Amino acid sequence: MPGAAPGDRLEIEVVERKKNYARGRIIDVLAPGPERVAPPCPVFGRCGGCQWQHLSYRAQLRWKREIVRDAFRRVAHMDVDVAEVVPSPNPWRYRHKTAVPLGRGFYAHGSHAIVPFEECLIQHPLLDRVVVAVRALELPLYDERSHTGLLRHVVARCNLKGDQAVVALVVNGDTVPDRARSLMQAVPELRGVVANINTRPGNVILGDRSVTLAGEDAITEEVDGLVFEVSVESFFQVNPAAAATLHGMAAEVAGSGASALDLYAGVGSIALRLAPEFEHVTAVEISAAACRDAERNAALNGISNVRFIPGRVEDMPAQRADVVVLDPPRKGAGPEVVASVARMRPTRVVYVSCDPATLARDARSLAEAGLQPRTAAPLDMFPQTAHVECVAQFTR
Ligand SMILES: C[S@@+](CC[C@H](N)C(=O)[O-])C[C@H]1O[C@@H](n2cnc3c(N)ncnc32)[C@H](O)[C@@H]1O
Repeated sequence: MPGAAPGDRLEIEVVERKKNYARGRIIDVLAPGPERVAPPCPVFGRCGGCQWQHLSYRAQLRWKREIVRDAFRRVAHMDVDVAEVVPSPNPWRYRHKTAVPLGRGFYAHGSHAIVPFEECLIQHPLLDRVVVAVRALELPLYDERSHTGLLRHVVARCNLKGDQAVVALVVNGDTVPDRARSLMQAVPELRGVVANINTRPGNVILGDRSVTLAGEDAITEEVDGLVFEVSVESFFQVNPAAAATLHGMAAEVAGSGASALDLYAGVGSIALRLAPEFEHVTAVEISAAACRDAERNAALNGISNVRFIPGRVEDMPAQRADVVVLDPPRKGAGPEVVASVARMRPTRVVYVSCDPATLARDARSLAEAGLQPRTAAPLDMFPQTAHVECVAQFTR
């Protein structure tokens, strides 16, 4: 029942019946549950960005812990000690990266219909201003049905302090009208404007080729004393304030030793954090842009014992490692990667996950390979949504 809160009394309409469950739609809230609050965003319920604005923040944290516990029980058939969820330093305006289709709004739940917004209450106000400024350029909009038009997405990133931003105009074509300078004048915090060329039909946001139209292609972010150059295409945690806590949690579980392997390394945020505790760290990352950023970041921070290997984790050469850190995208690492990690005979594995279901699936495979889950510590990287980040420790 989308939009329901625990303890609500609701009038509902059943819209779909299956053998073991049915789906419904709320017609009226007869009596609100004790954890229901008024969602502050005017498009909440229509926009697909957030699912939980109608739950008090305390309840969100409590239920996210249950989601992680439940995943371990149902998917992995394991009872794992799941810690209380560490709250986000800020439950609103925490996102420092956005990807706005056509620069107009976010997709509605389960559809490609755009719900327009002027401001998004979970993203930094500077990103709202960047999106509004791009909209004012009135570039011809892309139509996904006919695969014509120009502007597909506005992807923007800003730093934690909110004094730097960079924007990519994702376009269906090789040329973009020369408006980058006027965009930078409209939003003085913009360090640069990039055109990302994506002429392929389909859902993938970014294309393979980017051209810097003006200024720089990256912002500088500082997390716990480490400096990162993050280009607009690279992965960096969307909530940099919570990322500081996450990286600290991962580093604490990783401990110290001779060798560490950081798989799915992004711009090196975890690898560089591990560098002082290990003689050498090897990091593997598929994205060429992120690898370039990672090399630059090692140099910026005066770190010389981390080696970045561009490429797929699935293709990495066999090697020994005392500690392996995995931080895969939502689909998880999968059995092939788990098997090669087990062959490295690490004493500890740190699994940083943004999807409890794939974490639990991989936990089962790790356990079968002799690496038992010890603790799982969730962290709220994505307040107001049903998503939860988690750092799990496995030992031999
Ligand atoms: C969840 S992010 C983690 C990044 C980094 N550890 C951090 O904390 O910022 C996952 C990263 O894995 C990379 N990636 C995705 N699939 C991959 C694969 N098959 N092999 C190597 N890297 C991959 C993505 O480009 C992305 O940078």
